[in-house]
This record gives sequence, C-alpha cells and structure tokens, in this order.
Amino acid sequence: PEPPASLAVPQAGQPGLTLLRRIGVVDPASLDDYRSHGGYTALRRAFELGPAGVIREVTDAGLVGRGGAAFPTGVKWKATASQPDHPHYLVCNADESEPGTFKDRVLMEGDPYSLIEAMTIAGYAVGAHKGYLYLRGEYPRALRLLGNAIQQARARGLLGDDVLGQGYAFDIEIRRGAGAYICGEETALFNSIEGYRGEPRSKPPFPVEKGLFGKPTAENNVETLVNVLPILTMGAEAYAAIGTEKSTGPKLFCVSGSVERPGIYELPFGATLGELLGLAGKPENLRAVLLGGAAGGFVRADEMDIPLTFEGTRAAGTTLGSGVVLAIDDTVPLPRILLRIAEFFRDESCGQCVPCRVGTVRQEEALHRIAERTGAAAAGDIALLREVGRAMRDASICGLGQTAWNAVESAIDRLGAYE
Ligand code: NAI
Ligand code: SF4
Repeated sequence: PEPPASLAVPQAGQPGLTLLRRIGVVDPASLDDYRSHGGYTALRRAFELGPAGVIREVTDAGLVGRGGAAFPTGVKWKATASQPDHPHYLVCNADESEPGTFKDRVLMEGDPYSLIEAMTIAGYAVGAHKGYLYLRGEYPRALRLLGNAIQQARARGLLGDDVLGQGYAFDIEIRRGAGAYICGEETALFNSIEGYRGEPRSKPPFPVEKGLFGKPTAENNVETLVNVLPILTMGAEAYAAIGTEKSTGPKLFCVSGSVERPGIYELPFGATLGELLGLAGKPENLRAVLLGGAAGGFVRADEMDIPLTFEGTRAAGTTLGSGVVLAIDDTVPLPRILLRIAEFFRDESCGQCVPCRVGTVRQEEALHRIAERTGAAAAGDIALLREVGRAMRDASICGLGQTAWNAVESAIDRLGAYE
C-alpha cells in the first residue's frame, strides 16, 4: 500500500526558494503545469550551450555532489564525456536510504519533472543516450509520479529519439531497489541493475571510466541533478554567488527528531546549525545533534555556530553528509540510539569483506555489554570498540564499513557517552 503523502516542507510556497520553489505549488502529475512554472527552460538553454558548454557552466557554478561525498560534478561529467569507450550511461541514484534522509523523496514526489529534465540535461552533457533511475523500493508514490512523468515526456517529444527536435536521443528506465541500504553505494547499484548481488566493487577504476555494464558512467544523486536546472537558468556566476566560496548554491536539510517543525528546509550553504534549528523549532533541552546520518557524527548543543558547509563541518570534526540534522533532547537515551545505529550497520553490511562483516557484529556486541556496565568495567570494551572501529575504517572495501564507527566514536569523544 502506498504510504500517505508526507511532504513535510514547512517553507512550501515561501518566496526566495530555489530547489523547493515548485514543491506544494505545482501539480506533480501535470507536464503542462510544470512547464507553466518554468519547466524545460533549462533543457532549451542546454541545447544552446552544447554538451561542453553545459559542463563548463556546472564546473564554474562549483556544484558538488549532494549524496554525501561532495565530489565536483563538473569533474565527473567531463571525465565521463571524454571516455573513448561507448556507450556512456547516466545513472541517477535515487536509492535514498541514509537514516534521517528524505530530501530526494520530497523532490521526486513534489516536482518529478524537474528530475526528468535534469537527467536529460546530464545525459546530453556526458554523451549518454540511456539513463537509469535507481529508485528506493520503499518510495511507491515517487515511482508512480516519475513513471507518469517519463511517459508524458516521451509522448511530448521531451524524451525519445529526437528530444525537442534537436537530434539528440535519450530515454530513461526506472529500476527499483529491494530494500538493501548497500545498493545506494554506486557500484553495488550498478551490480543490482545488471542483475547481480548488490555488492560494492573496488574503486578505482571509478565509474567515470568503468561503471554500469563496464562502460563510462556518470552517477549522480537526485538533489545534485536538480541543482543543474537553476545553474542553467540563472547562470553559473549567479548560482556560485549563493552559499560560500567552497560550498556553492542552496542545500536541502532533513531536520528530524526533537524539534517542533520537522521536515525539509532549504538554506544557502553557510547558514549555521543554530539558524537552521531556529527555523525548525529547537527544543530548550537539546542535548546533541546527529549530522550526516548514521554514517555521520554527533555535535554538542553548545556547537550551534558550526557553519553548514562541507568545509565547515569537516573543520569541526564532523560531516554534512547528505544533510541529515537529527536533534536529540536530554530525555532521549543515547546508548539506545547508538545500539540502533550499530544494529543497522550489522544488518546492512553486505558481508563481502571481513573488517565490516565481523567488525559491525563486534561493535554491536560491545555496545550491548557496555549498556549493562559503567566506569572501569566498560573501559575495556570502549578500547575494543576503538580498535574494531579503526580496522573497519582503514580496511573496509566501501563507505559502509569505513563509516560504521563514526557515530559511536563521536558520541564517546564529543558527548562523553558512557561516562
Ligand atoms: P566517494 O568519495 O568514494 O565518491 C564520491 C563520488 O565521486 C563517486 O561517484 C565516485 O565515483 C566519484 N569519485 C571519487 N574519486 C574520483 C576520481 N578520482 N575520479 C572520478 N570520480 C571519482 O564516496 P561514496 O562512497 O560514493 O559516497 C559516500 C557518501 O555517501 C558518504 O558521504 C555518505 O554520507 C553518503 N551516503 C548517502 C546516502 C544517502 O541516502 N544519500 C546513503 C549512504 C551513504
Ligand atoms: Fe560489504 Fe561492508 Fe565490505 Fe562494504 S565494507 S563491501 S558493505 S562488507
């Protein structure tokens, strides 16, 4: 059964928004409505610029990936476009599964045509004629709306053999995930599309060189792609003027937990954590905030000045990741949250490599033991956690194992958990 619409967008309809400007305003099932709200002007601009021109604009805009890793999109597109091997593919990673992340869902349910238009532009830029949209299996509403958008776009010549009469052929196929967090890792996602087990591949080679079906592939997150539309309509310079020098543009934040108005918020990079929580209704008794999700880290309630940028959170010893901001007040039992995170990683590890397969189990066991003890009795297990955490971080094949200890480490070191 389809879950109820949960477009928790407290800013919906407010002026000055870029990414959320059509959410709650446009009819997500209507191509005509999308067009009457500025839809498909960016694609026309892309055809005027040509593929190299589009890549130049995206590079000059300073766009970096919004899935969590902040890799420069222009570099990724240029590297894919320049590969001599063919065909090239475009893959949209819509397998949004980081706990506390629901921004892509809001974009896909509230403004699905924007993703279809952005994928067409990205495909054009990197020389792909086929795009795959790998959608989280638990997003049935997004599936229905995106399926409808693709069908309508095909019927109106906005996808197919001759997009907008410009002689460029491009089409999109949706593939659904089946509930595995690891299939959001880009190479596991390729394996899943190809019909194999969703296990990550070693990198390098990077997907730009050998990706889907072993061919050059540009893989981008939903929010990253949707940012290409304002870059082309407002121009790279105006876009780069939003945010900070190193983190340009607007950013979506997924605010949840102990706040009065949870939901998706759009702010320019550089706003502080305190400003964001001010909008969402910060509780009096805030204890900590989990930034970046289960793969991220905790910050204390007295660290509200942290700027919400990739460089600012890194300098503060944490991460922005995909934009998770989970507020925790002092009534919430921290050990229970840490155990839940550890269970999650143990459950979602694909089991391919030893440090992660064994390490996530040992981590959860130690946290269970610590939860029953305190002080000196727990010290040995905390030392064990550090050793296991280091091994996972240094020796795991993919980001899941490499980050499975982040949140627990930050809770121990920053919040004094278990003291
Ligand atoms: P990564 O740093 O390995 O790669 C980021 C991107 O840059 C990839 O597309 C990779 O192919 C590309 N890349 C890196 N170096 C390259 C090079 N030299 N040449 C060409 N391309 C290159 O990070 P990864 O493992 O892809 O993503 C980790 C992030 O994903 C974490 O920050 C985590 O927060 C986030 N994440 C997000 C989730 C979500 O639901 N949005 C779920 C789980 C993790
Ligand atoms: Fe699989 Fe974990 Fe190894 Fe990643 S780190 S390949 S999820 S076992």
